[in-house]
Amino acid sequence: MNNPAIGEFIDKVKRGADITQVIGNYVQLRKKGNRYWGCCPFHSEKTPSFSVVPEDGGFFYCFGCHVGGDVFKFISLIENVSYFEAVKIEAEKLDIPLPKRNRTPAEIARDEQRERLYRVNELAKTFFHNCLTVTKMGQAGIKYLKGRGLAANAVEEFSLGFSPAAWDKLAKAFIKRGIDEEALITAGLCVRREKGGVYDRFRGRVMIPIDDERGRTVGFGGRILDNGEPKYLNTAETPIFNKRRLLFGLYNAKSHIRREGYVIVVEGYMDAVSLFEAGVKNVVATLGTAFTAEHIKLITRYTSKVYFCFDSDEAGQRATMRTMSVIRNSPIRAKVITVTDGKDPDEFIRKNGRDGFFKLIENATGIFEHALRYILNHAVYNTLEGKLTVLKEAAPILAAMADSTERREQIRLLGGRLMIDEDSITAEVRRHLGGAWRRYPEEEQRTKPQQQDSVSLRAERIILQSLMRDKTLADHVNAMLPEGLPGAAGRELFANLCADGEEGQELSEEAKILYSRIMNEPVPEDAAQAYTDAVNLLRKNYLEGLCNEHIKKAGEYYEAKDMAKYREELAQVKKINAEIKELA
Ligand code: UTP
Ligand code: MN
Repeated sequence: MNNPAIGEFIDKVKRGADITQVIGNYVQLRKKGNRYWGCCPFHSEKTPSFSVVPEDGGFFYCFGCHVGGDVFKFISLIENVSYFEAVKIEAEKLDIPLPKRNRTPAEIARDEQRERLYRVNELAKTFFHNCLTVTKMGQAGIKYLKGRGLAANAVEEFSLGFSPAAWDKLAKAFIKRGIDEEALITAGLCVRREKGGVYDRFRGRVMIPIDDERGRTVGFGGRILDNGEPKYLNTAETPIFNKRRLLFGLYNAKSHIRREGYVIVVEGYMDAVSLFEAGVKNVVATLGTAFTAEHIKLITRYTSKVYFCFDSDEAGQRATMRTMSVIRNSPIRAKVITVTDGKDPDEFIRKNGRDGFFKLIENATGIFEHALRYILNHAVYNTLEGKLTVLKEAAPILAAMADSTERREQIRLLGGRLMIDEDSITAEVRRHLGGAWRRYPEEEQRTKPQQQDSVSLRAERIILQSLMRDKTLADHVNAMLPEGLPGAAGRELFANLCADGEEGQELSEEAKILYSRIMNEPVPEDAAQAYTDAVNLLRKNYLEGLCNEHIKKAGEYYEAKDMAKYREELAQVKKINAEIKELA
C-alpha cells in the first residue's frame, strides 16, 4: 500500500460506512450500553458473545472465538474476499470512486490506444453525418431513408450518416487532419492497399454509429442502399468494438429503461431506430449476434425485466429459443413479444403505430411458456413416440420456470395437449431440477421422507455413519449445512449423536430404523472422501436454495427501486454461484 491515495481512500470509505448497519445485515444485533451484541457468525453459539462498537472508527470483537477487526475485516471474513475487495464493495455502495492507480507502461499504452480509437470513431461519426446532411454525396442516403419513412428527427437522434460512394474520401480527409493510416486501419475504417496506402472500408452506405453504454462511438453498421451483399457491413472487432458486449441504442435508451422498468430487445438496428422514433424508447438491438451473458450483465444495471421482440420469421423464432439457455441461469425475467403483422418490429410499428405495439407488449408471454408453444407447434405428437419426444424437450424448460405456480399450470396444459397424466410430466421435470433456478421447493416439502431424493438421503447416511466414528465432525457438518440434514429422521439422529453424554431422548421409530440401516451399511472404501463428497453434495443443494432466495429478494428490491440492495443481492447470487461451481 505504497500509494498514499489508497490509504486516504480506505479512510474515506470507512468514515462513510456504518459498521452496525453492515454487520446488522448478517447478524441480529441488540444494543446494550455503547455496544451492540449478537450471536457470532464465525463460530456456532446460542448466547451472544459477539460485540460491535460503532465508536473509534468502528470495530467488532467476539469474546468466544476472539475474532475481531474493523468493518472491512468483517466483510472480508464473511464474504470470503480480500481486505481490499471488502473496501471496494463498501465504496461501491457509497458511490465513492476508486483512486487512480499507478498504471504500468503496458496499461498506459493500451489506454492511449483506446482513447485514440474513441477519437477516430467520433470524428468518423461527424464525417459521415455531415456527408449525409450537408453534402451532395449524401443525397442517395437521404433518399433511401425517406423511402423507408424515417423522420429527420431519427437522423439527428441516432447521428445517422452516409459513407461516400468513392474509394478514399474519408482516408484523404482524415490523413489531411493528421490521423495516420495505422489508426484508420485499427479503427476498422480503412483497409490497406496491396501497393501501399489505404482505402475506405465503408462506401455508399447509410452509416449507423454504434455507441457503448457511456455514449462513446465505438463502431458502425453500414446499410447498403440496394439489394447488394452484405446488407450490413459492420466494424470488425477492435479493442473497443465487441459485438457480444454491445447493445445498439443502450445509451439513448437507458433512462427510459429505468423509467419503464423493462427493456425491449430487438434484432435489427432499424427496428430499434423505428421503435424509438415511434415513442417506444426503452429499446436496444443486438448486433446480429446471439443474446449473450455479457448482454445480461449490461442490462441488469438497469433492469432485470427483458422483453424479446425478434423477427416473426423462423430464424427469429429460433433466435428466441436460443436466448433461453442464457436466460436460464441469470436473474433475468424474460417475456416474448410476438410480431403479428409484418416481418419485424420496424414494419409492425410503421403499420400499427405506438398503440398497436403496446397491445403486443400487453400480450407478451413468458419466455418458457413461449418455448413450450414453439415446441408443440413444431412437433407431431399423435404417437407415443412423438409425445415422449415433446416431453423430453419440454421437461428442462418446465424445470427452468422460476415460478412454481406457472410451472404447475403449464404442466396441466401440456398434460391436456399430449394427453399424458400430469404426474408423469412432473416426474420427468423432476429429473431436470437441481441446478440453480431449477428447484421445485413446494414439491420437496410435500414429499414424504421415504420418497425423498435417494441421492441426498444416501449422502445423509454416509455423513451420519462418519459421525458415529468421529463426533468431532459435527462442527464441520453444522458449518457446511446451516439447515441441517435433508431428512427429519436424519436430523433427529444427528442431534442425538451430538448430545452424547447428556440424557438422551428416546429416538422416534423412523430414527431407529435409519440408525439400524446405517449400522448395517458397509463403510465405503475411501470413507474420508465419501464423507467429503456427501457433505459437498448437500451443501450444493443448500446453496441452490439460498441462491433462489437471493434471486427472489433481488427481484423484490428491484420492484421497490432499491438499487443498492438489489445489487447486494445480485452480488450474493454471484458469490453463491461461484461456490456452487467449485463444489460441482
Ligand atoms: P435483419 O436483416 O433482420 O436487419 O438483420 P433489418 O434491421 O431487418 O434490416 P433492414 O430493415 O432490412 O435494414 C438483423 C441484424 O443483423 C445484423 C444487423 O445488426 C441487423 O440489424 N446483420 C444483418 C448484419 O450484421 N449483416 C447483415 O448482412 C445482415
Ligand atoms: Mn428490417
